Amino acid sequence: METQVAIVGAGPAGLVLARLLERQGIDSVVLEVRSREYVEGRVRAGVLEQRTVDLLTEAGVADRLQREGMVHAGLELRFGGRGHRIDLSELTGGRTITVYGQQEVVKDLIAARLSAGGALRFAVSDVELAEVESERPAVRFRHDGEAHELRCDAIAGCDGFHGICRAAIPPGALTVYEREYPFAWLGILARARPSSEELIYANHPRGFALHSMRTPEVTRLYLQCEPGEDLGAWPDERIWAELQARFELTEGFRLNEGEILDRGVTPMRSFVVEPMQHGRLFLAGDAAHIVPPTGAKGLNLAVADVEVLADALSAFYRDGDERRLAGYSERCLRRVWRVQHFSSWMTAMLHRPPGQDPFEAQLQHSQLEYVCRSRAAATTLAENYVGLAEV
Ligand code: APR
Ligand code: PHB
Repeated sequence: METQVAIVGAGPAGLVLARLLERQGIDSVVLEVRSREYVEGRVRAGVLEQRTVDLLTEAGVADRLQREGMVHAGLELRFGGRGHRIDLSELTGGRTITVYGQQEVVKDLIAARLSAGGALRFAVSDVELAEVESERPAVRFRHDGEAHELRCDAIAGCDGFHGICRAAIPPGALTVYEREYPFAWLGILARARPSSEELIYANHPRGFALHSMRTPEVTRLYLQCEPGEDLGAWPDERIWAELQARFELTEGFRLNEGEILDRGVTPMRSFVVEPMQHGRLFLAGDAAHIVPPTGAKGLNLAVADVEVLADALSAFYRDGDERRLAGYSERCLRRVWRVQHFSSWMTAMLHRPPGQDPFEAQLQHSQLEYVCRSRAAATTLAENYVGLAEV
């Protein structure tokens, strides 16, 4: 088998890349270890930056997103028993975010890929990369009981944090930057009307909590918990009681409750590898970096990477110009580190680490008040949250 670009992984990074290449007439094959049902059913984050929405729209995969996505012009920071609105749109010259589940984005991209007749294989196994330092690298894999070798000009490693592509780079060629957090998020999806029109990020002495949504009937909620928290210790009543306590306001507030449709624990990590490329292998999305979810950036950063990669591949095929491919990692990493900083800043401002000392708690409170009172500080949050056009 042959193609121009072999794409390993059918998450947002791999699927968006396949779509962008398809629009430029560049051939690709997407390989995914999981089944289509699994990939489409996996509940993940759900905030799209304006630039992500624009890119999906230009790529012709945003019809349902335009109909069903919920456009938000602001968000709330809640602390000290009070809510404070950050007017994202007013602070950023009219930009907004759109709430639309990651798995809905993935469903739309898969449907578009298949209806365009593009190659996309689910449930492959034993995926291995070969000769990534040559000009004709290969991906070996098994599918439907048969062994295959896919020769290509470039491999896009879009296989997420636990994938195999990053490990195909010799360890001596990589620098890893990593930070683990002493907490995680317990997330639920509930059949309940959202309790507020906008997202609420709450810093409460009992820990962080987040109110988000998927549709006018489905709420997405998170609460700070221990890393590796046992879901068995969290019956529904305990989850709701804890959420109610953390979203409390002095003038009174009740979260709408409902049947819990999905639940899970999300670990929190910051991670970057440099460089994001080796020979003809290019890492994109979670394969190269992880951000803690407090800034809602994971999917947006994955899309930003593949936008750069598609542009570099198109220069390569159009003019034989390899310079943009050579500069791929450097160009991506500027945004990666901006987003790493923003995500770790939001995480530090909003969570209560175990054993937080009282001095630290006062600093955190002062920082939150400053963000809500100073236009300059609020603008810093807003422009990063809606997504910087240029980094
Ligand atoms: N071969 C093929 N596919 C693989 C392999 C492999 N060896 N290993 C993993 N995969 C698949 C996974 O099953 C998954 O579908 O690669 C895909 C990677 O997708 P994501 O993990 O969604 O990563 P990415 O596309 O970079 O998107 C980043 O996803 O994790 C969230 O919050 C994160 O929103 C961010 C976004
Ligand atoms: C979500 O809706 O799942 C969500 C929203 C904001 C975040 C993280 C997740 O910061």
